[in-house]
Amino acid sequence: MTVIDLRSDTVTRPTPAMREAMAHAEVGDDVYGEDPAVNRLQERVAALLGKAAALYVPSGSMANQIALAIHTRPGDDVLVGEGAHNFLYESGAAGAIAGVQMTIVGQGGLFDAADVEAGYKVDNHHYAPTRLCCLEDTHNRGGGKVWPQAQRDAVVAAARARDLQLHLDGARLWNAAVFHAAAAGRSLAGTAAEALSPELRALAAPFDTVSVCFSKGLGAPVGSCLTGSRELMDRAHRMRKMLGGGMRQAGILAAAALHALDHHAARLGDDHASARALAEGLARLPGVRVDGAPETNIVIADLTGPADAFVAGARERGVLLNAIGPRRIRLVTHLDVSRAACDDALGRLAGLPA
Ligand SMILES: Cc1ncc(COP(=O)(O)O)c(C=O)c1O
Repeated sequence: MTVIDLRSDTVTRPTPAMREAMAHAEVGDDVYGEDPAVNRLQERVAALLGKAAALYVPSGSMANQIALAIHTRPGDDVLVGEGAHNFLYESGAAGAIAGVQMTIVGQGGLFDAADVEAGYKVDNHHYAPTRLCCLEDTHNRGGGKVWPQAQRDAVVAAARARDLQLHLDGARLWNAAVFHAAAAGRSLAGTAAEALSPELRALAAPFDTVSVCFSKGLGAPVGSCLTGSRELMDRAHRMRKMLGGGMRQAGILAAAALHALDHHAARLGDDHASARALAEGLARLPGVRVDGAPETNIVIADLTGPADAFVAGARERGVLLNAIGPRRIRLVTHLDVSRAACDDALGRLAGLPA
């Protein structure tokens, strides 16, 4: 029985063509700034997002933590949405490395201008000064949710009115861009990531820093970029060194990301369609509730019974998924699961006590 792994879009393995691109990567010592593939990737990503500069880092977590460190000083306060990756899933790094406290605003991951106002600490020595507001698009815990533009703009305006810096965790910004392109009726078939540049630039424009990952929907094995002004990226570069994130012949990895930008961005719409099919099929199972159609590649479902038992039962049937709450499961579509595999998974899950 083949295993169908729906735990995360991080589980993909490099395709033969990607491995080929990695094998032929032109490399140098990136700590000296001499790796041609890394330099090409950084320039390409900065251009794609309309930022002055980009810095290649080993992970999305490091990109987020560097952003926190360069925007704040220890003792500052940072506004984040509920379930934000940089709050919930980065091992407490925000407190340990940047030394900041985080204030959760809103519910479900997204928030609005009133939440920014409610979370903002007025200038008073009792409070940690609020310096930074972080958004996540798409929102992982929020079920791959895309920020509606008007809501995002209102939050940005409220944050700027309070002189806050803005960071966007765009680990899955590619998915958000594909969502917006599809909503605008644009066909992306056969295009490289540059076809998404109008959407990516619009999404990135309001933020001082934006992180993007290559190791999620794009299917590369490693790596993220942090983007922003040259001055901020110079500071980020120093912070990357402090964290031990300076890599040497990293072009082997950058080549995988470059290949992914050429071949795996436009196809993300297929993952979104598979996620909708999964959500529809799950919603038909007794005891399973799905709140509306997923916007991108993440499906969250609520069960009547315990999630752990459902996940264990699914594993016995060769379907891997994650419990993200006592009665909540998460399934993620990606490059290594076809639509047919998703249909197969639904067949295997039928009849499992939920
Ligand atoms: C929204 C978001 N941000 C950041 C990250 C961190 O990425 P990494 O696993 O590369 O550290 C993830 C990982 O899943 C994520 O979902």
